[in-house]
Amino acid sequence: MEKSLDLRELTIVNEVAKILSKGLEFTKSLEEVLKVLYSFWDVRHSYVALYRSEIKALKIVKAFGLTEEEAERGIFKKGEGIVGKVYKDGVPVFLSDTKINAYLNKTGLRERLEPGESFVAVPIRIGGEIIGVLAVFKDFGEESVERGVELLLIMGTMIGMLYKLDERISQEREEWEEEKRLLTKALSERYSVEGIVGKSPVIKNLLDLIERVAQTDVNVLITGESGTGKSLIAKAIHFMSKRKEKPFITINCSAIPETLLEAELFGYEKGSFTGAYTSKKGKFELASGGTVFLDEIGDMPLALQPKILRVIQDKEIERLGSEKTVKVDVRIISATNKNLSELVSQGQFREDLYYRLNVLPVHIPPLRERKEDIPILVDHFLEVFNQRYSKRVRLDPRIIEVFMEYPWPGNVRELENTIERLVILRDGLIREVDLPPYFFARLYDTGPKNMPQVIQSTERDEIIKALEKVGYVKSRAARLLGYTLRQLDYRIKKYQIEIKRY
Ligand SMILES: Nc1ncnc2c1ncn2[C@@H]1O[C@H](COP(=O)(O)OP(=O)(O)OP(=O)(O)O)[C@@H](O)[C@H]1O
Ligand SMILES: [Mg+2]
Repeated sequence: MEKSLDLRELTIVNEVAKILSKGLEFTKSLEEVLKVLYSFWDVRHSYVALYRSEIKALKIVKAFGLTEEEAERGIFKKGEGIVGKVYKDGVPVFLSDTKINAYLNKTGLRERLEPGESFVAVPIRIGGEIIGVLAVFKDFGEESVERGVELLLIMGTMIGMLYKLDERISQEREEWEEEKRLLTKALSERYSVEGIVGKSPVIKNLLDLIERVAQTDVNVLITGESGTGKSLIAKAIHFMSKRKEKPFITINCSAIPETLLEAELFGYEKGSFTGAYTSKKGKFELASGGTVFLDEIGDMPLALQPKILRVIQDKEIERLGSEKTVKVDVRIISATNKNLSELVSQGQFREDLYYRLNVLPVHIPPLRERKEDIPILVDHFLEVFNQRYSKRVRLDPRIIEVFMEYPWPGNVRELENTIERLVILRDGLIREVDLPPYFFARLYDTGPKNMPQVIQSTERDEIIKALEKVGYVKSRAARLLGYTLRQLDYRIKKYQIEIKRY
């Protein structure tokens, strides 16, 4: 037997080597290899069967010149039939056309073979391991069968290389995905303090501010639209402060009826009112040494406001039905989405209490004014909910573009809820079409009409700038802006601009 390949064999090896260099997906490569065998060597029927541990048998993964049904029937147990034997022993088998009747004929191809077609099966190897079998049907005619088998053995080795290559590529792809995931995670941690995610200048300044505020005991008033993160910031200030080992107690002033609120806050003595069978400590006492968070402070009933003032000024309280004063040491953080200064001017909120609570104002702008935070918030919530619901949902980048356009009236909470819903309801890659329709309705609603909003926000900025320039003397600011005082007052209210006093 001659050792060197002739021209035709060389061409075939060359063609398959080209496929190897393309880096295609494995079954796609196989398809090309079988095509080469057909075009350059007149192999009209061929297939590759690989061992599949999940079915403990060899299975045809790619075929040429077989119908789908024929290919599907191609399942061979180890040692079963010729294919099974080649896999088991690792030795090629040749069956001439006259002997082909002994062939198991699992695929049902035998009936369709033309006279003269022989069968050759060779092992597919990776190193010492056999992973499957390459089978071809061919009329050798005058050609040397030995050389044919030799060529097919080379093909078997090359298919093994293709397999290995594909394995490595998908492994690398997975590693790359994992790396990307870890990177995003590291990034979002980098931009997250106490769970506050964001990288806009606004959020960075806010984090700076609360870091410094946390070291002091001053009262903080947090303002911002619903869902901007007021409660989150309040908690962060507490847990960054030296009071962090002590309680953080939240009271939602709007959720509790006035009569109960007083008892909740200050506690009561047994018998102080019908139903008071025992004595009970109020929240201010319970929070001793820690922080009391008065949420929705704008809804604090006027009648209770002097008592809150007393807690702040004198650091003492009396339980309902008790003469005894109790010393309390609490820091007070309050929050509202209302315009407190407006409530003050309407007589619905005590001015003295307002200034006491508002020693340090912290304002959180709405999400639409700090869109840079959207992508990083999306990544953050995706990770949180994918983990919570054991899913691997990803978002098409187009969705982020839609998110950047959307006005987010419900701010971060709405974004959080949106992502949670998508993770629960969808799988895999989420595209624009998967977004709820209301999303687009609202989006296009504000789309072309976006202009006034932009104008509004620049108008607001200009007013604030002017006010700052003149030390918040409204009459001077009005002159500067060319407004009457009434016009300016109207806009201050409309844009909920806070009038700082020095
Ligand atoms: N910067 C942020 N990073 C991560 N999560 C955030 C951020 N801002 C808000 N959230 C999340 O968004 C949701 C709404 O925030 P939060 O409850 O603090 O808003 P709020 O301003 O107190 O709203 P409301 O006025 O309705 O009480 C929460 O689940 C919160 O964890
Ligand atoms: Mg809140």
